Amino acid sequence: MKHLRSVVCGVGSYLPAKVVTNADLEKTVDTSDDWIVQRTGIRQRHIAGEGETTSVLATHAARAALDNAGLTAADIDLIIVATSSPDYTFPSTATQVQAAIGMTHGAAFDIQAVCSGFVFAVTTADKFLVSGSHRRALVIGAETFSRLLDWNDRTTCVLFGDGAGAIVLEAREGAGTIKDRGVLTSHLRSDGRHREKLYVDGGPSTTGTVGHLRMSGRDVFRHAVGMVADVMTDAFAATGTSAEDLDWFVPHQANRRIIDASAEKLGIAPAKIVVTVDRHGNTSAASIPLALAAAVADGRIKPGHLVMIEAMGGGFTWGSALIRW
Ligand code: UT7
Repeated sequence: MKHLRSVVCGVGSYLPAKVVTNADLEKTVDTSDDWIVQRTGIRQRHIAGEGETTSVLATHAARAALDNAGLTAADIDLIIVATSSPDYTFPSTATQVQAAIGMTHGAAFDIQAVCSGFVFAVTTADKFLVSGSHRRALVIGAETFSRLLDWNDRTTCVLFGDGAGAIVLEAREGAGTIKDRGVLTSHLRSDGRHREKLYVDGGPSTTGTVGHLRMSGRDVFRHAVGMVADVMTDAFAATGTSAEDLDWFVPHQANRRIIDASAEKLGIAPAKIVVTVDRHGNTSAASIPLALAAAVADGRIKPGHLVMIEAMGGGFTWGSALIRW
C-alpha cells in the first residue's frame, strides 16, 4: 500500500546583515565574552535592522526556499509560519508572507510554540499533506526576538538573535517504510505548568503591551535535556531506528551545553551534530531551519540522509521529528 509522505524539496534562510558580537555587548551590558562563550557557546548574533520585521525575514527565507525547490508561489497551497514575535497581534505573519510572495490561493496561518515552533509547524504541515488535503507547504520559522528583549537584563539579552529559515514540503507517494524520503515520525509535547520559567511579561489581553522576555535560565536548563531526550527516544521507538542510524542531528540552538548533553545522553556522535548557535545565538523558532539551510548549503545534508530535529521552549513545549531528507 502506498503512503503519502511529506518530502523536503527546498530549503532557504535569511539573516539580517547587522552582527552583534559578544565584545559589542560588553560595551553596554555587564557581561563578558568569556562568560557567554563558556555558558552558551554563543559568539555573535544577527539583529534585525529598521523595517526588518518578522514577515520581512520570513519572506526572504520563503523566496530562497522556493528558488531552491525550483518552484513559485503558484505551486504552494499552504503556508505555516512558526513565530512568537509576529509583526502584529493580527493578522498572522503567514498571511503577510502570502501577500508578499503574491499568493492568493490556499491557506496561511501562524503557529506559536516558542522555540519548539518549527517542530510543531513541520508536524502540522505533515498532517495536512499526508491527509491529501494540500500538496505543497512552505514551513517557516521566523523571529525578531531582539524586539522582545530587555536589553538591561544580562541574563537574557546576550542569548537571542534574529533570523528566518524555511523549507518546502511536498506530498509524494512512498512505500510506507523508513526508507521513504519525508517526515517519518513526529512527537509533540507540552506542559503549561511551566509557564513562569520562560515567558513574556506582556500581551494584548493582559497588559496591552508587547512585554519583555523573562527566563529562569537554570530551571529551563534543568528540564531541557530530559525533555528533548524523551521525544527523540519516542521517534526512535516509532521507527525502529537508533542514534547510530542518524546522519545528522539538527537540534534547536539555545545553548551548546544543552545540545552536547542531549547528544551524549542518546549516544549521538559529536561529528553528526549541526551547530549554529555560535554564529546565530538562539533564534527561537528560526533556529532549526537556519541550521538545516546551513548544513544543506555546505553539502553536509544530502537527499536520503536521516535527520533528527528537536526543540524545547516556553510553555513548556517540546518535540521531535525524524526526516529522511
Ligand atoms: O530556547 C528556549 C530554551 N532556553 C534555553 O534553553 C536556555 C536555558 N538556560 C541556559 O542556557 C542557561 O541557564 C543560561 C545560559 C541562561 C545561564 O547559564 P547558567 O550556567 O545556568 O548560569 P546561571 O543562570 O546559574 O548564572 C550563573 C551566574 C550568576 O551569578 P551568581 O548568582 O552565580 O553570582 C549570574 O548572575 O552568572 C551570572 N550571569 C552572568 N554573568 C555574566 C548571568 N548572566 C550573565 C551574563 N554575563 N550575561
